[in-house]
Amino acid sequence: MSPFQIRPAVSEDARFLADMLIEASNWNPVRVRPRVTVLEDPTVSRYISGWMRPGDFGSIAVDAHGVAVGACWGRLFPANEPGYGFVAPGVPELTLGVNSQWRAQGVGRSLLQAVARQAGASGHSRLSLSVERANFAQRLYISEGYVTVDSGENSDTMVRSVH
Ligand SMILES: CC(C)(COP(=O)(O)OP(=O)(O)OC[C@H]1O[C@@H](n2cnc3c(N)ncnc32)[C@H](O)[C@@H]1OP(=O)(O)O)[C@@H](O)C(=O)NCCC(=O)NCCS
Repeated sequence: MSPFQIRPAVSEDARFLADMLIEASNWNPVRVRPRVTVLEDPTVSRYISGWMRPGDFGSIAVDAHGVAVGACWGRLFPANEPGYGFVAPGVPELTLGVNSQWRAQGVGRSLLQAVARQAGASGHSRLSLSVERANFAQRLYISEGYVTVDSGENSDTMVRSVH
């Protein structure tokens, strides 16, 4: 039996999403910022501010006790205030994070797949994200069907189709 389960994210998950946003922002151990500093950075906090807004959706991985261990969620950004992984209005941008003790056990992949299903059920045809090329997470995204559509100095914008 799988040691974790996936459920839809709800508005009460805001605090946990903030935790996972910190994990995503601090993925590189040589460049870790304190929680408060990360959350005060509007280019980061925009991924969770006001959660859960119309159009927001996501999935939470929970352990056998129902404790959240990972999250992936999508949010829409307008063209005049694009996120790092913006490709077009109406294409949700994803954020993904898993508690460090729970990594490399399939949680991240399961969350990506769950969110793709949610997006398809909501009528979206694409999902996007931004990932730094040094982050192994990019290999996970490639294996889940994401392709690079734009590249910056250190990061790529990736997109996948959902049905
Ligand atoms: C990226 C992250 C979400 C992946 O979640 P995860 O639950 O560890 O991923 P999974 O267990 O589903 O593993 C997915 C694949 O990555 C591989 N992988 C896992 N940990 C790895 C590591 N440390 N180094 C290299 N590959 C790794 C797995 O082997 C797996 O591939 P496989 O299915 O072919 O075996 C998680 O590591 C994390 O939260 N990292 C910090 C936050 C972050 O970087 N977020 C993404 C920002 S763009």
